[in-house]
Amino acid sequence: MDTLELLKSRRSIRKYKSKPVEEEKLNKCLEAARWAPSASNKQPWEFLIVKDEVMRKKFAEIHPYAKFVAESPVVFIPLTNPEIHSKYHMSDTGLTILHFMIQAHAEGLGTCWAGVIGTSFESELKKLLNVPDNLNIMALVALGYPDQERESSRKELDELVHWDMY
Ligand SMILES: Cc1cc2nc3c(=O)[nH]c(=O)nc-3n(C[C@H](O)[C@H](O)[C@H](O)COP(=O)(O)O)c2cc1C
Repeated sequence: MDTLELLKSRRSIRKYKSKPVEEEKLNKCLEAARWAPSASNKQPWEFLIVKDEVMRKKFAEIHPYAKFVAESPVVFIPLTNPEIHSKYHMSDTGLTILHFMIQAHAEGLGTCWAGVIGTSFESELKKLLNVPDNLNIMALVALGYPDQERESSRKELDELVHWDMY
């Protein structure tokens, strides 16, 4: 598949098969995340992986828009470190998520990003996961074999693009 087709065909998946994710595929997704671009190459991120079903069910109870993490066999949890880069910790860590999601799609896996940072329930998730005070939970990212087909849409380019001057 060419790159544009890969990017356009990725969908947020909210239903998953119970089939486990192969370690090799998971490692490739993590490797892709690690190679995200980063302001001044400071890489203000760390990654948590949770497979434990009891934990995943607790996440689904805490996060009002991430019920699907109870089903997805893996949850990728990128953490941001604002002490490493106060300005770009969020954008950099967001890019690790995108890399992870695109690699997952290339491997035939589905993902869905559920935002956490700045929410009222971030501290509850941090406590549950024993995340140190100085780090933030950027998101819960479900990973697993898709059990649904989805469609999406985007604004047209002519609504978005300004040529030469606004
Ligand atoms: C920052 C961010 C936060 C998101 N949070 C959620 C969420 O809490 N729950 C959810 O089901 N989807 C969430 N999504 C997924 C979006 O709803 C999804 O990307 C969008 O509807 C477009 O669909 P597509 O990814 O299939 O093209 C989030 C996406 C982003 C980028």
